[in-house]
Amino acid sequence: MKSIIITGAGSGLGKELALRYGRLGYHLLLIGRTLKKLKDVEEQILAENGHADSFAVDISRPSEIQAFISHAGKQYTLYGLINNAGIGHFGSFEQMPHSEIEEMLRINVLGTMYMSQAILPYLAEKNEGLIMNIISTAGLRGKVNESAYAASKFAVRGFTESLQIEYAHTGIKIKAIYMGGMDTPFWDHNNFIKDRSRLRAPAEIADKILANMDKDAIIIESQK
Ligand SMILES: NC(=O)c1ccc[n+]([C@@H]2O[C@H](COP(=O)([O-])OP(=O)(O)OC[C@H]3O[C@@H](n4cnc5c(N)ncnc54)[C@H](OP(=O)(O)O)[C@@H]3O)[C@@H](O)[C@H]2O)c1
Repeated sequence: MKSIIITGAGSGLGKELALRYGRLGYHLLLIGRTLKKLKDVEEQILAENGHADSFAVDISRPSEIQAFISHAGKQYTLYGLINNAGIGHFGSFEQMPHSEIEEMLRINVLGTMYMSQAILPYLAEKNEGLIMNIISTAGLRGKVNESAYAASKFAVRGFTESLQIEYAHTGIKIKAIYMGGMDTPFWDHNNFIKDRSRLRAPAEIADKILANMDKDAIIIESQK
């Protein structure tokens, strides 16, 4: 059975993608920092007769990524990676602490790059696989009070577009996903969006992603 790793699979879009890939018959490797949230998603997948395992991995720590992938590479048939985990700090750039800028770059950018680098040899060996990078419309254009977040997402866009060219003549598919606002726990830790009623449900975004898997770049703009 082919395994797909989803980072940040315990909530929001990662959880919705995990449920859907479980229904498609893949084995899911659910990773994130909070095991309890992952186990809840795992239970839902198992309740639908799917297959999943959960691992507490902090993708901002390269040693945890290496330890996880070398275990998973021995234990499972690695087929895919959905780089979904991400965090956002918003507000005036002048006032943004270095700690917040660095946290976003470590998780959103380096986490995505090091996870991809760790799994690619397993995909290359079979000449098949999928890497899907969850970016944001903040990776398409800059926005007020989103400078550092947008910088992190532009970095992932450049990384993804380059990999698409580098692996174009292989069986490894690389996808870039750009979506607008979603109503998820992403917004629980800041006051940046006060009215979430216009945000899309992550389930809707997950459905649109799966319906457009023939495209290399999927753009789902915010609701007006
Ligand atoms: N919500 C939006 O409006 C929106 C719009 C465009 C793009 N996005 C992007 O969509 C992706 C998913 O976000 P979401 O909205 O679904 O938010 P979410 O519910 O907060 O999901 C993010 C997940 O990432 C995990 N995570 C955070 N840091 C991690 C780390 N260092 N290592 C491993 N896992 C980590 C979190 O779990 P733990 O804290 O337990 O680790 C959480 O479950 C993100 O990349 C985000 O930038 C979101």
